[in-house]
Amino acid sequence: MRKGIILAGGTGSRLFPMTQVVSKQLLPIYDKPMIYYPLSTLMQAGIKEVLLICTPNDLPLFKALLKDGSQWGISLKYAEQVEPKGLAQALIIAEGFIDGGLSALILGDNIFYGDSLPALFTQLCSTTEGCFVFGYHVSNPQDYGVITFDDAGGASAIYEKPVTPESQYAMPGLYFFDERACAFAKDVIPSSRGELEIVDVVNRYLDDKSLKVAKLGRGTAWLDTGTPDALSEATQFISAIEKRQGLKINCPEEIAFHQGWIDDNQLKRLAQPLLKSGYGEYLLKLII
Ligand code: G1P
Repeated sequence: MRKGIILAGGTGSRLFPMTQVVSKQLLPIYDKPMIYYPLSTLMQAGIKEVLLICTPNDLPLFKALLKDGSQWGISLKYAEQVEPKGLAQALIIAEGFIDGGLSALILGDNIFYGDSLPALFTQLCSTTEGCFVFGYHVSNPQDYGVITFDDAGGASAIYEKPVTPESQYAMPGLYFFDERACAFAKDVIPSSRGELEIVDVVNRYLDDKSLKVAKLGRGTAWLDTGTPDALSEATQFISAIEKRQGLKINCPEEIAFHQGWIDDNQLKRLAQPLLKSGYGEYLLKLII
């Protein structure tokens, strides 16, 4: 079974002063904490064993919020990233947890939304070889890892935050790796910003011709939440769709219930303390 890693480290320097005391992943996006969104993405992919990597300061707070995961039928473990030394460092921290197996790494501030995504992610979870990443058309590729495509539609190069991007396709913070990821991460040399870049791990797969890139189309949303504007826009996006449809986006209790990982009684137990917020009422309505 593929295991999940969520990296929720760092202070979100572009969000000061909101993140002086806690990481942004503990802040809300509309009606739920930001961390619920990437965790839900992993759960939708069928991943039940997750390691959450965060700062030592945030660790007790995440534990108080998410507990050991058993309330949602999953297993949650925690590890510290003492300094924000890059995404690839998460793979090194998670080495014992991954235990030579397959992994999926997601960033704690990335939100994925789209009807087709759960099926795509579930399918990728069952593949055993290589690395799968995504390409998403954005207006500001220079802020991300950028993927260049060859004429056949395959990835030809990936650069971290290029000054003059050769394409509009950013690489979102969700990566499916085979068992070589930790070893590749250990070979990475710190970049000029002092981080172990995930792009360097992905490029090892590209060199080995075992990288696959799926473009996420117009019917999908990939949001990040690194600036006050992005945070507010993500909240507005989630709020608009949830209110219109009367369905919640990335609600871990609902996903656990639909996956058959918790039963009616457990859902009722989870709903009870949340009734005043309307969130609990929503959970109760899921039981027909
Ligand atoms: C990181 C990665 C980058 C990726 C982005 C997605 O950027 O380094 O390749 O496109 O996440 O959110 P950072 O958050 O470190 O700026």
